[in-house]
This record gives sequence, structure tokens and C-alpha cells, in this order.
Amino acid sequence: MSAPSIRHGQASDLDAISRIYDHYVATTHVTFDLEPPGAERRRAWFEQFSTAGRFQLYVASGGGEVLGFACSTPFKERAAYDISVETTVYLDPDAVARGLGQRLMATLVEALERAGVHRAYAGVALPNDASEALHGKLGFRRVGVLSEVGRKFDRYWDVAWYEKRLGAS
Ligand SMILES: CC(C)(COP(=O)(O)OP(=O)(O)OC[C@H]1O[C@@H](n2cnc3c(N)ncnc32)[C@H](O)[C@@H]1OP(=O)(O)O)[C@@H](O)C(=O)NCCC(=O)NCCS
Repeated sequence: MSAPSIRHGQASDLDAISRIYDHYVATTHVTFDLEPPGAERRRAWFEQFSTAGRFQLYVASGGGEVLGFACSTPFKERAAYDISVETTVYLDPDAVARGLGQRLMATLVEALERAGVHRAYAGVALPNDASEALHGKLGFRRVGVLSEVGRKFDRYWDVAWYEKRLGAS
């Protein structure tokens, strides 16, 4: 089988994206959603993306299936934060640890550079060795840990924030 390709996400990918994400909502602490977002919220989420701006969605696709996705979304609403984005990446559990997360995120980071984004941030709920390794590999720097900032499955979770400086900065 040929290597998975990386391309912009399309509306027709949303069911597969939801299937991947909802698995992590139900079974892990790596996302702090407690319930699957549902089709309507997922469609509204998709509306924010473009193929050249600050908010972009990429998918990895192989054998006709979506194997994972990475995206950038607003970091915070207030206008001075417009130069920063938050990034996220999720793979199908059967597609992890093969370099796909790194390819998806590297593609997203290059796109953010082109779009003139100044900083990208990723929040990693701990523990998550794979995500910490991935972000470190891509030049994200761990800038702090929020202790017990989330509660899921009847316990508190810490979140490490990772920062990527883009452009000439
Ligand atoms: C986190 C995730 C996106 C990483 O993508 P991936 O394709 O599995 O990781 P890659 O194969 O690209 O590996 C990237 C680097 O991390 C390292 N790595 C991968 N999994 C690891 C693990 N479990 N422990 C330690 N290091 C790990 C790899 O060795 C690689 O470094 P190297 O090139 O020096 O060998 C993926 O595992 C995933 O979707 N996990 C579940 C969802 C999730 O946690 N998303 C992130 C939320 S913050």
C-alpha cells in the first residue's frame, strides 16, 4: 500500500474525524470534552477553516480512509491574541507511532508559517508521552504546566502547554 498522503480536510471527512475524536473523548483524558461534540458542532467547527489562513485543517489519508487530522483554531477570542493559534492532532488508534502525527503537524506548522502566524500553542493533558515527544520533535517548547486544571473520569488532570515560535521570532 502506498504511503498515506496529507491534504486539506473536506466536509466529507467529518464523519471519519468524529469517529477518531469521539474514541478519545470516550476512553481517554487526552481531550477534555466529556461528551462527543455531535454532528452539528462538528460542522460548525469545520466552517472556521480555510486553505490559506490562520485556521487550517489537514487530514492524513491512506487506503481511502482518514487516518488522522491536525488543525489550528483560535487561541483566545480577544483581538490581541489574533497572532496566535492553538493546534491539535489526533490519529486513529491503529495509525499511531508510524510518523504520521509528525507529518501532519509539520505540514500544519509550515502552513502557519506561510499564513504569518506568530505563535502556536498546544495543551497536552498529562500523561501523554507520544504527544510530548511529538511536540518536542517539532520545536514546540514546554512553557508551563497547569496543575489539576481539568476533571474527567473522577480525577484531576494536569495540562502542559507547548509553544512554537514561528517566523523570524
Ligand atoms: C500524539 C500523536 C498525535 C503522535 O503521533 P504519532 O504518529 O503516534 O507519533 P510519531 O510516530 O509521529 O512520533 C513522533 C515522535 O514521538 C515519538 N513517540 C511516538 N510515540 C511515543 C510514545 N508513546 N512514547 C514516547 N515517544 C513516542 C516517536 O518516536 C517520534 O520521535 P522520533 O522521530 O525521534 O522517533 C498520536 O500518538 C495520537 O494521535 N495519540 C492519541 C491522541 C492524542 O494524544 N493527541 C494529542 C492530544 S495533545
